[in-house]
Amino acid sequence: MCGIVGYIGQGPSSPVLVEGLSKLAYRGYDSSGIAFLDNGSITVQKAAGKLEKLTERLIIGGDEGIGIGHTRWATHGPATTENAHPHLSQHKQIVIVHNGIIENHLALKNELSWFGYDTYLSETDSEVVAHLIEHFYRSSHDLLEALHQAVEKMEGSYAIAALAADRPQEIVAVRKNSPLIIGLGEGENFLASDVPAILSRTRRVMYLNDDEYARLGREKVEIFARDLSPIDREVCQIDWDIKTAEKGGYDTFTLKEIHEQPRAIRETISHRIKQGRLSLELELLESMAPSLQRITIVACGTAYHAGLIGKTVIEELVGLPVQVEIASEFWSVARFLTPADLVIAVSQSGETIDTLQAIRLARRAGAKVLSILNVVGSTLARESDAVLYTWAGPEIGVASTKAYTTQLAAFFMLALSLSGSGQEAELLELADQVDQALATEETIRRIAREQAANEKIMFLGRGVDYYTALEASLKLKEISYINCLAMPAGELKHGTIALVEPGTWVVAFLTQSQTYDKMVSNLKEVRARGAKVLAITCLSGDSLADAADEIIHLPKTLEHYAPMVSIIPAQLLAYYIATERGLDVDQPRNLAKSVTVE
Ligand code: F6R
Repeated sequence: MCGIVGYIGQGPSSPVLVEGLSKLAYRGYDSSGIAFLDNGSITVQKAAGKLEKLTERLIIGGDEGIGIGHTRWATHGPATTENAHPHLSQHKQIVIVHNGIIENHLALKNELSWFGYDTYLSETDSEVVAHLIEHFYRSSHDLLEALHQAVEKMEGSYAIAALAADRPQEIVAVRKNSPLIIGLGEGENFLASDVPAILSRTRRVMYLNDDEYARLGREKVEIFARDLSPIDREVCQIDWDIKTAEKGGYDTFTLKEIHEQPRAIRETISHRIKQGRLSLELELLESMAPSLQRITIVACGTAYHAGLIGKTVIEELVGLPVQVEIASEFWSVARFLTPADLVIAVSQSGETIDTLQAIRLARRAGAKVLSILNVVGSTLARESDAVLYTWAGPEIGVASTKAYTTQLAAFFMLALSLSGSGQEAELLELADQVDQALATEETIRRIAREQAANEKIMFLGRGVDYYTALEASLKLKEISYINCLAMPAGELKHGTIALVEPGTWVVAFLTQSQTYDKMVSNLKEVRARGAKVLAITCLSGDSLADAADEIIHLPKTLEHYAPMVSIIPAQLLAYYIATERGLDVDQPRNLAKSVTVE
């Protein structure tokens, strides 16, 4: 949540900052701003709304080649220009950008009022950070030391970058539970919340860990530990291409990413299959497998839905009990973990704070953590005992699509690896089957046009198809803003069927032969009450024709692999309903791609 950029180098900083912010807009996009040094004083420019609102009125000039910028996802105070970052300190000596939440901001305000700090121009928790750093800077005249003293007083989570009006030679920064990376250039250096912000300028990157500080000059970057002792940090080379983070001819990132799924799935799987045999090369799994009694999966949102499907396939193929927990609720189960437990965390970004806090609890209990992640070098990657990477490539659209199907691929591989059930050939076919499922696009588009105005939509399934229904419903909610729901079909008659009336639209998933007949009966029940039914199936059966108004046929897979194929029409449906409604699919309201607040 929220994106931070910083630049110190030659020439005006504002174009570099704005370009960086445009690559971070997925982290929050309700307001933005930049600040740079201008002949010994700080110039701040900010605007409510998307980044274009800032660039429309940006005045470039007098810039000393040092600046910081921010794109916001509001927590404290609405998305107004006043609440946008950067925030100036009371005497305009310091300017800061902040990502996270300062939990004790009221107590800090109170304390600072004794020193005459009583003027606040915003409703944010962040502005107090500028005042606090200034308060310490006025006595020490050491910016890093002032930041350190301020941080010692703060509670909460933060990535902070700060400048002082009279120090054109440095940017200082700190992080705790919010990501920050440093890009290394020639005579210039960069700071950002994520790699895409700097990728057009450099591929040489250093990662900052929690409780670490950074001081960026034009010629050197220094990293410091919590007590400000210097640290040597390795430089990593980013090997992915900026083009993979661009739209490549599609109208939106989301549509591009939906279409990238066959490639992403193929890459995630095929690299791990050598001479027809799966090899994950996960020592942790190999050492734990013989004595493993149970597995706990932890994740949020779409990654949680991938975890539910992971549970089903592991239970079926391996025969081990698996529990799946929503990361923000994990505290209540963590106390039952022991060193014999394996916890699997699932995350696209590897920065989701709820998931991070969950694995910290798990590790504290002695459990081992294996993470399924998309972003190399992310905080979760660094805090896990082992990582199984998905090869989805950068996912920019806020609604997760290719990250989800590659997470399913990772779970299928884990289940195969633990069970030795030798279904590699069928696994390798999945990418082509997803490609075939994408051929439903025109049909789905027509259906989406017909249903775009419908506010009564229900997704049904049984077993693993219910989990697909949950994910389908989340996709529709987040990009179409339709208050739809997902139900286990058998549970409907226990209450929710009261909602069904003429005009209700039911989307049903039927990929499992064991539950097929029962699903057909449930669909007849909703049709008898006036609902229209769209059935999505990989199975062939005559009885469905009487239970559905329309049927989407998908390629047949091994049944436990079917969720990877059946989600495709649902992603397209959500996408085209949203575009029919004229909505911004890549950046839906109220959301952000990387959720770094609890
Ligand atoms: C929905 C979506 C979110 C994320 C969730 C976890 O489309 O993207 O529900 O799945 O916020 O994010 P990661 O996977 O980055 O931990």
